Amino acid sequence: MAHLLLLPGDGIGPEIACQVEKILLTLQKEGAPYTWSYGLIGGAAYDQFHDPLPEETLKKAREADAILLGAVGGPNYDKLPRDLRPERGLLRIRHELGLFANLRPAFLFPELIHASSLKPEIISGLDLLILRELTGDIYFGTPRGIVEENGERVGINTMRYSESEIRRIAHLAFEFAGQRRKKVVSVDKANVLEVSELWREVVEGVGKDYPDIELTHLYVDAAAMLLLRKPCDFDVILTSNLFGDILSDEAAMLTGSIGMLPSASLNETRKGMYEPVHGSAPDLAGKNRANPLAMILSLAMAFRYTFSDAKSALRIEQAVQRTLKQGCRTEDIALPAQAWLSTEAMGDAVLRNL
Ligand code: NAD
Ligand code: IPM
Ligand code: MN
Repeated sequence: MAHLLLLPGDGIGPEIACQVEKILLTLQKEGAPYTWSYGLIGGAAYDQFHDPLPEETLKKAREADAILLGAVGGPNYDKLPRDLRPERGLLRIRHELGLFANLRPAFLFPELIHASSLKPEIISGLDLLILRELTGDIYFGTPRGIVEENGERVGINTMRYSESEIRRIAHLAFEFAGQRRKKVVSVDKANVLEVSELWREVVEGVGKDYPDIELTHLYVDAAAMLLLRKPCDFDVILTSNLFGDILSDEAAMLTGSIGMLPSASLNETRKGMYEPVHGSAPDLAGKNRANPLAMILSLAMAFRYTFSDAKSALRIEQAVQRTLKQGCRTEDIALPAQAWLSTEAMGDAVLRNL
Protein backbone atom coordinates (compact mmCIF):
# COMPACT_ATOMS: atom_id res chain seq x y z
CA MET A 1 0.00 0.00 0.00
CA ALA A 2 1.58 3.28 -1.10
CA HIS A 3 1.68 6.12 1.40
CA LEU A 4 1.36 9.82 0.72
CA LEU A 5 2.36 12.52 3.21
CA LEU A 6 0.33 15.72 2.96
CA LEU A 7 2.09 18.88 4.15
CA PRO A 8 -0.45 21.71 3.75
CA GLY A 9 1.89 24.40 5.11
CA ASP A 10 0.85 28.04 5.30
CA GLY A 11 -1.42 30.65 3.74
CA ILE A 12 -3.63 29.08 1.09
CA GLY A 13 -1.82 25.74 1.55
CA PRO A 14 -4.45 24.17 3.86
CA GLU A 15 -7.36 25.35 1.66
CA ILE A 16 -5.95 23.81 -1.50
CA ALA A 17 -4.81 20.67 0.34
CA CYS A 18 -8.47 20.08 1.36
CA GLN A 19 -9.46 19.91 -2.29
CA VAL A 20 -6.86 17.22 -2.91
CA GLU A 21 -8.02 15.23 0.07
CA LYS A 22 -11.51 15.00 -1.44
CA ILE A 23 -10.03 13.38 -4.51
CA LEU A 24 -7.93 10.98 -2.45
CA LEU A 25 -11.01 9.99 -0.45
CA THR A 26 -12.95 9.22 -3.61
CA LEU A 27 -10.13 7.14 -5.08
CA GLN A 28 -9.68 5.30 -1.80
CA LYS A 29 -13.40 4.49 -1.59
CA GLU A 30 -13.10 2.97 -5.05
CA GLY A 31 -10.36 0.71 -3.71
CA ALA A 32 -7.20 2.54 -4.83
CA PRO A 33 -4.25 1.18 -2.82
CA TYR A 34 -3.19 4.47 -1.21
CA THR A 35 -3.16 5.83 2.32
CA TRP A 36 -2.16 9.30 3.48
CA SER A 37 -1.32 11.22 6.59
CA TYR A 38 -0.60 14.81 7.53
CA GLY A 39 2.50 16.61 8.74
CA LEU A 40 3.65 20.11 9.61
CA ILE A 41 6.09 22.24 7.67
CA GLY A 42 6.93 25.92 7.31
CA GLY A 43 5.28 28.53 9.51
CA ALA A 44 2.70 26.00 10.74
CA ALA A 45 5.56 23.84 12.05
CA TYR A 46 7.37 26.85 13.49
CA ASP A 47 4.25 27.85 15.44
CA GLN A 48 4.11 24.45 17.10
CA PHE A 49 7.73 23.31 17.28
CA HIS A 50 9.85 26.43 16.66
CA ASP A 51 11.30 24.59 13.68
CA PRO A 52 10.09 24.93 10.05
CA LEU A 53 11.06 21.28 9.43
CA PRO A 54 10.64 19.29 12.65
CA GLU A 55 12.42 15.95 12.97
CA GLU A 56 9.03 14.20 13.06
CA THR A 57 8.04 15.66 9.69
CA LEU A 58 11.36 14.69 8.15
CA LYS A 59 10.99 11.14 9.48
CA LYS A 60 7.45 10.87 8.04
CA ALA A 61 8.71 12.29 4.74
CA ARG A 62 11.48 9.71 4.55
CA GLU A 63 8.98 6.92 5.22
CA ALA A 64 6.35 8.13 2.72
CA ASP A 65 6.44 7.13 -0.93
CA ALA A 66 5.44 10.62 -2.02
CA ILE A 67 4.89 13.99 -0.40
CA LEU A 68 2.33 16.55 -1.42
CA LEU A 69 3.09 20.06 -0.23
CA GLY A 70 0.81 23.12 -0.30
CA ALA A 71 3.01 26.16 0.20
CA VAL A 72 5.06 27.76 2.95
CA GLY A 73 5.78 31.28 4.09
CA GLY A 74 4.00 34.44 5.06
CA PRO A 75 4.56 37.95 6.35
CA ASN A 76 4.36 36.82 10.01
CA TYR A 77 7.54 34.87 9.58
CA ASP A 78 9.65 37.22 7.45
CA LYS A 79 11.40 38.80 10.44
CA LEU A 80 12.45 35.52 12.08
CA PRO A 81 16.11 34.49 12.14
CA ARG A 82 16.83 33.07 8.70
CA ASP A 83 17.19 29.44 9.82
CA LEU A 84 13.74 29.47 11.39
CA ARG A 85 11.89 30.90 8.39
CA PRO A 86 9.37 28.69 6.57
CA GLU A 87 11.31 28.80 3.29
CA ARG A 88 14.30 27.20 5.03
CA GLY A 89 12.09 24.24 5.94
CA LEU A 90 11.21 23.79 2.29
CA LEU A 91 14.83 24.06 1.15
CA ARG A 92 15.92 21.60 3.83
CA ILE A 93 13.36 18.95 2.92
CA ARG A 94 14.40 19.22 -0.75
CA HIS A 95 18.04 18.86 0.27
CA GLU A 96 17.55 16.08 2.87
CA LEU A 97 15.57 13.94 0.42
CA GLY A 98 17.98 14.63 -2.45
CA LEU A 99 15.18 16.01 -4.65
CA PHE A 100 17.51 17.34 -7.34
CA ALA A 101 15.14 17.25 -10.30
CA ASN A 102 12.26 19.71 -10.37
CA LEU A 103 9.79 19.23 -13.22
CA ARG A 104 7.62 22.25 -13.90
CA PRO A 105 5.41 21.60 -16.91
CA ALA A 106 3.69 24.63 -18.40
CA PHE A 107 0.75 23.40 -20.41
CA LEU A 108 -2.01 25.62 -21.75
CA PHE A 109 -5.50 24.18 -21.42
CA PRO A 110 -7.13 25.48 -24.62
CA GLU A 111 -10.13 26.56 -22.48
CA LEU A 112 -7.87 29.14 -20.80
CA ILE A 113 -6.43 30.71 -23.92
CA HIS A 114 -8.08 34.03 -23.10
CA ALA A 115 -6.93 34.00 -19.46
CA SER A 116 -3.29 34.43 -20.45
CA SER A 117 -1.81 37.90 -20.68
CA LEU A 118 -0.36 36.93 -24.06
CA LYS A 119 -2.19 36.93 -27.39
CA PRO A 120 -3.94 33.64 -28.25
CA GLU A 121 -1.90 33.16 -31.44
CA ILE A 122 1.33 33.32 -29.42
CA ILE A 123 0.42 30.79 -26.75
CA SER A 124 -1.90 28.43 -28.61
CA GLY A 125 -0.47 24.90 -28.23
CA LEU A 126 1.91 25.81 -25.40
CA ASP A 127 3.40 22.65 -23.87
CA LEU A 128 6.84 22.96 -22.34
CA LEU A 129 8.71 21.40 -19.46
CA ILE A 130 11.09 23.34 -17.29
CA LEU A 131 13.57 20.98 -15.70
CA ARG A 132 15.08 22.92 -12.84
CA GLU A 133 18.05 21.63 -10.84
CA LEU A 134 16.87 21.86 -7.23
CA THR A 135 19.58 20.99 -4.72
CA GLY A 136 22.57 23.01 -5.87
CA ASP A 137 23.49 26.48 -7.11
CA ILE A 138 23.43 29.72 -5.16
CA TYR A 139 20.57 28.31 -3.06
CA PHE A 140 22.93 26.00 -1.17
CA GLY A 141 26.48 27.16 -2.02
CA THR A 142 28.84 28.27 0.74
CA PRO A 143 30.21 30.63 1.93
CA ARG A 144 27.00 32.52 2.52
CA GLY A 145 25.86 35.09 5.02
CA ILE A 146 25.99 38.74 5.97
CA VAL A 147 29.39 39.77 7.36
CA GLU A 148 31.14 42.96 8.50
CA GLU A 149 33.81 44.25 6.19
CA ASN A 150 35.53 47.64 6.38
CA GLY A 151 32.87 49.05 8.65
CA GLU A 152 29.87 47.98 6.60
CA ARG A 153 27.83 44.84 6.06
CA VAL A 154 28.35 42.67 3.00
CA GLY A 155 25.92 40.00 1.81
CA ILE A 156 27.48 36.87 0.33
CA ASN A 157 26.12 33.87 -1.57
CA THR A 158 28.02 31.39 -3.66
CA MET A 159 26.88 30.07 -7.00
CA ARG A 160 28.39 26.64 -7.56
CA TYR A 161 27.82 23.41 -9.45
CA SER A 162 29.95 20.30 -9.64
CA GLU A 163 30.23 18.35 -12.89
CA SER A 164 28.33 15.40 -11.41
CA GLU A 165 25.43 17.62 -10.33
CA ILE A 166 25.18 19.06 -13.83
CA ARG A 167 25.54 15.68 -15.48
CA ARG A 168 22.70 13.95 -13.61
CA ILE A 169 20.14 16.67 -14.30
CA ALA A 170 21.28 16.93 -17.93
CA HIS A 171 20.72 13.19 -18.46
CA LEU A 172 17.17 13.56 -17.20
CA ALA A 173 16.52 16.48 -19.54
CA PHE A 174 17.51 14.40 -22.55
CA GLU A 175 15.46 11.45 -21.32
CA PHE A 176 12.34 13.59 -20.89
CA ALA A 177 12.92 15.23 -24.27
CA GLY A 178 13.07 11.73 -25.79
CA GLN A 179 9.48 11.18 -24.64
CA ARG A 180 8.40 14.60 -25.96
CA ARG A 181 9.37 16.69 -29.00
CA LYS A 182 13.08 15.85 -28.76
CA LYS A 183 14.41 19.35 -28.09
CA VAL A 184 16.45 20.55 -25.14
CA VAL A 185 17.29 24.20 -24.58
CA SER A 186 19.87 24.61 -21.84
CA VAL A 187 19.64 28.01 -20.16
CA ASP A 188 22.68 29.59 -18.50
CA LYS A 189 24.69 32.80 -18.25
CA ALA A 190 27.90 31.47 -19.79
CA ASN A 191 28.86 34.88 -21.19
CA VAL A 192 29.50 36.06 -17.62
CA LEU A 193 29.60 33.20 -15.11
CA GLU A 194 32.22 30.46 -14.80
CA VAL A 195 29.57 28.19 -13.22
CA SER A 196 27.60 28.52 -16.44
CA GLU A 197 30.69 27.93 -18.58
CA LEU A 198 31.12 24.56 -16.88
CA TRP A 199 27.35 23.93 -17.07
CA ARG A 200 27.36 24.44 -20.84
CA GLU A 201 30.44 22.26 -21.39
CA VAL A 202 29.05 19.37 -19.33
CA VAL A 203 25.59 19.57 -20.95
CA GLU A 204 27.25 19.49 -24.40
CA GLY A 205 29.15 16.35 -23.35
CA VAL A 206 26.03 14.58 -22.05
CA GLY A 207 24.20 15.58 -25.24
CA LYS A 208 26.58 13.42 -27.28
CA ASP A 209 24.92 10.35 -25.71
CA TYR A 210 21.57 11.47 -27.18
CA PRO A 211 22.20 12.07 -30.89
CA ASP A 212 18.47 12.14 -31.72
CA ILE A 213 17.82 15.05 -29.34
CA GLU A 214 18.41 18.59 -30.59
CA LEU A 215 20.41 20.60 -28.06
CA THR A 216 20.67 24.38 -28.10
CA HIS A 217 21.82 26.93 -25.52
CA LEU A 218 20.39 30.27 -24.48
CA TYR A 219 21.53 32.92 -22.06
CA VAL A 220 18.95 33.39 -19.35
CA ASP A 221 18.10 36.98 -20.31
CA ALA A 222 17.37 35.92 -23.88
CA ALA A 223 15.41 32.90 -22.64
CA ALA A 224 13.20 35.15 -20.52
CA MET A 225 12.51 37.26 -23.59
CA LEU A 226 11.87 34.31 -25.93
CA LEU A 227 9.45 32.75 -23.43
CA LEU A 228 7.22 35.73 -24.12
CA ARG A 229 7.95 36.05 -27.81
CA LYS A 230 7.82 32.44 -29.03
CA PRO A 231 6.89 30.25 -26.07
CA CYS A 232 5.71 27.38 -28.26
CA ASP A 233 9.21 26.88 -29.68
CA PHE A 234 10.29 25.42 -26.34
CA ASP A 235 10.08 21.75 -25.47
CA VAL A 236 12.40 20.96 -22.52
CA ILE A 237 14.15 23.84 -20.79
CA LEU A 238 17.08 22.57 -18.73
CA THR A 239 18.35 25.06 -16.19
CA SER A 240 19.88 25.72 -12.81
CA ASN A 241 18.11 26.31 -9.52
CA LEU A 242 17.92 30.12 -9.50
CA PHE A 243 17.21 30.62 -13.20
CA GLY A 244 14.57 27.86 -13.08
CA ASP A 245 12.82 29.52 -10.15
CA ILE A 246 12.45 32.75 -12.07
CA LEU A 247 11.62 31.31 -15.47
CA SER A 248 8.96 29.01 -14.05
CA ASP A 249 6.91 31.86 -12.59
CA GLU A 250 7.14 33.52 -16.00
CA ALA A 251 6.05 30.31 -17.74
CA ALA A 252 3.19 29.96 -15.26
CA MET A 253 1.66 33.21 -16.45
CA LEU A 254 1.65 31.94 -20.02
CA THR A 255 -0.84 29.30 -18.92
CA GLY A 256 -3.21 31.91 -17.53
CA SER A 257 -2.29 31.94 -13.85
CA ILE A 258 0.36 30.79 -11.45
CA GLY A 259 -2.52 28.91 -9.84
CA MET A 260 -2.37 26.42 -12.73
CA LEU A 261 1.24 25.20 -12.57
CA PRO A 262 2.05 21.92 -10.78
CA SER A 263 5.51 20.55 -10.08
CA ALA A 264 7.32 17.36 -9.17
CA SER A 265 10.65 17.17 -7.39
CA LEU A 266 12.31 13.79 -7.78
CA ASN A 267 15.37 12.09 -6.32
CA GLU A 268 17.48 9.29 -7.76
CA THR A 269 14.91 6.65 -6.71
CA ARG A 270 11.98 8.61 -8.14
CA LYS A 271 10.64 9.31 -4.70
CA GLY A 272 8.92 12.62 -5.17
CA MET A 273 7.64 15.71 -3.51
CA TYR A 274 4.80 17.34 -5.41
CA GLU A 275 3.81 20.95 -5.01
CA PRO A 276 2.23 23.82 -6.89
CA VAL A 277 4.76 26.31 -8.24
CA HIS A 278 3.02 29.21 -6.50
CA GLY A 279 3.56 30.34 -2.93
CA SER A 280 1.28 30.75 0.07
CA ALA A 281 -0.51 33.79 -1.46
CA PRO A 282 -0.95 35.67 1.84
CA ASP A 283 -3.31 38.10 0.09
CA LEU A 284 -5.79 35.25 -0.52
CA ALA A 285 -5.24 33.13 2.59
CA GLY A 286 -8.40 32.14 4.44
CA LYS A 287 -10.64 33.74 1.82
CA ASN A 288 -11.62 30.61 -0.12
CA ARG A 289 -10.54 32.37 -3.32
CA ALA A 290 -7.35 30.56 -4.36
CA ASN A 291 -7.16 28.36 -7.41
CA PRO A 292 -6.71 24.72 -6.26
CA LEU A 293 -5.90 23.37 -9.73
CA ALA A 294 -2.08 23.56 -9.48
CA MET A 295 -2.33 21.50 -6.30
CA ILE A 296 -4.76 19.02 -7.85
CA LEU A 297 -2.53 18.69 -10.93
CA SER A 298 0.43 18.11 -8.59
CA LEU A 299 -1.45 15.09 -7.21
CA ALA A 300 -1.79 13.85 -10.79
CA MET A 301 1.98 14.16 -11.18
CA ALA A 302 2.46 12.08 -8.01
CA PHE A 303 0.39 9.29 -9.55
CA ARG A 304 2.36 9.50 -12.79
CA TYR A 305 5.92 9.74 -11.51
CA THR A 306 6.03 8.04 -8.11
CA PHE A 307 3.13 5.59 -8.20
CA SER A 308 3.55 4.74 -11.91
CA ASP A 309 -0.24 4.99 -12.17
CA ALA A 310 -0.70 6.91 -15.41
CA LYS A 311 -4.38 5.96 -15.48
CA SER A 312 -5.23 7.83 -12.28
CA ALA A 313 -3.01 10.73 -13.35
CA LEU A 314 -4.86 11.07 -16.63
CA ARG A 315 -8.20 10.72 -14.91
CA ILE A 316 -7.43 13.69 -12.65
CA GLU A 317 -6.07 15.78 -15.53
CA GLN A 318 -9.13 15.03 -17.64
CA ALA A 319 -11.42 15.94 -14.74
CA VAL A 320 -9.66 19.31 -14.55
CA GLN A 321 -10.02 19.82 -18.28
CA ARG A 322 -13.72 18.88 -18.21
CA THR A 323 -14.28 21.31 -15.34
CA LEU A 324 -12.65 24.12 -17.33
CA LYS A 325 -14.65 23.15 -20.40
CA GLN A 326 -17.86 23.54 -18.38
CA GLY A 327 -16.83 27.13 -17.76
CA CYS A 328 -15.85 26.73 -14.11
CA ARG A 329 -13.23 29.33 -13.15
CA THR A 330 -11.59 30.63 -10.03
CA GLU A 331 -11.02 34.36 -9.75
CA ASP A 332 -7.46 34.29 -11.13
CA ILE A 333 -8.47 32.63 -14.43
CA ALA A 334 -11.88 34.27 -14.90
CA LEU A 335 -12.33 36.94 -17.55
CA PRO A 336 -13.30 40.39 -16.23
CA ALA A 337 -17.10 39.92 -16.48
CA GLN A 338 -17.09 36.17 -15.83
CA ALA A 339 -18.52 34.64 -12.65
CA TRP A 340 -16.06 32.65 -10.58
CA LEU A 341 -16.10 29.85 -8.03
CA SER A 342 -14.60 29.60 -4.58
CA THR A 343 -11.66 27.29 -3.90
CA GLU A 344 -14.03 24.77 -2.39
CA ALA A 345 -16.59 24.94 -5.21
CA MET A 346 -13.81 24.46 -7.77
CA GLY A 347 -12.58 21.42 -5.82
CA ASP A 348 -16.13 20.02 -5.81
CA ALA A 349 -16.50 20.63 -9.54
CA VAL A 350 -13.33 18.66 -10.28
CA LEU A 351 -14.56 15.91 -7.98
CA ARG A 352 -17.87 15.67 -9.89
CA ASN A 353 -15.92 15.34 -13.12
CA LEU A 354 -13.60 12.66 -11.83
P1 NAD B 1 2.83 33.76 -4.40
O1 NAD B 1 2.98 32.73 -5.45
O2 NAD B 1 2.37 33.28 -3.06
O3 NAD B 1 1.83 34.89 -4.90
C1 NAD B 1 2.07 35.68 -6.06
C2 NAD B 1 0.73 36.16 -6.62
O4 NAD B 1 0.05 35.06 -7.21
C3 NAD B 1 -0.21 36.72 -5.57
O5 NAD B 1 -0.94 37.78 -6.13
C4 NAD B 1 -1.15 35.57 -5.27
O6 NAD B 1 -2.43 35.97 -4.84
C5 NAD B 1 -1.21 34.86 -6.61
N1 NAD B 1 -1.44 33.43 -6.45
C6 NAD B 1 -0.55 32.51 -5.98
N2 NAD B 1 -1.11 31.31 -5.93
C7 NAD B 1 -2.38 31.43 -6.34
C8 NAD B 1 -3.48 30.54 -6.51
N3 NAD B 1 -3.38 29.23 -6.21
N4 NAD B 1 -4.63 31.03 -6.96
C9 NAD B 1 -4.77 32.32 -7.27
N5 NAD B 1 -3.77 33.23 -7.15
C10 NAD B 1 -2.59 32.79 -6.69
O7 NAD B 1 4.25 34.49 -4.27
P2 NAD B 1 4.77 35.64 -3.25
O8 NAD B 1 3.64 36.56 -2.95
O9 NAD B 1 5.99 36.11 -3.83
O10 NAD B 1 5.13 34.83 -1.93
C11 NAD B 1 4.27 34.69 -0.81
C12 NAD B 1 4.93 33.73 0.19
O11 NAD B 1 5.01 32.42 -0.37
C13 NAD B 1 6.35 34.12 0.56
O12 NAD B 1 6.51 33.86 1.94
C14 NAD B 1 7.21 33.19 -0.27
O13 NAD B 1 8.47 32.94 0.29
C15 NAD B 1 6.36 31.95 -0.30
N6 NAD B 1 6.58 31.07 -1.45
C16 NAD B 1 6.48 29.72 -1.19
C17 NAD B 1 6.57 28.81 -2.23
C18 NAD B 1 6.43 27.36 -1.92
O14 NAD B 1 6.05 27.01 -0.82
N7 NAD B 1 6.71 26.47 -2.84
C19 NAD B 1 6.74 29.27 -3.53
C20 NAD B 1 6.81 30.65 -3.78
C21 NAD B 1 6.72 31.54 -2.71
C1 IPM C 1 9.58 27.86 -5.42
C2 IPM C 1 9.77 28.91 -4.33
C3 IPM C 1 10.93 28.52 -3.42
C4 IPM C 1 12.19 28.51 -4.27
C5 IPM C 1 11.11 29.40 -2.18
C6 IPM C 1 9.83 29.58 -1.40
C7 IPM C 1 12.18 28.86 -1.28
O1 IPM C 1 9.91 30.16 -4.87
O2 IPM C 1 9.41 26.67 -5.08
O3 IPM C 1 9.56 28.22 -6.59
O4 IPM C 1 12.81 29.58 -4.46
O5 IPM C 1 12.59 27.43 -4.72
MN1 MN D 1 9.51 30.24 -7.03
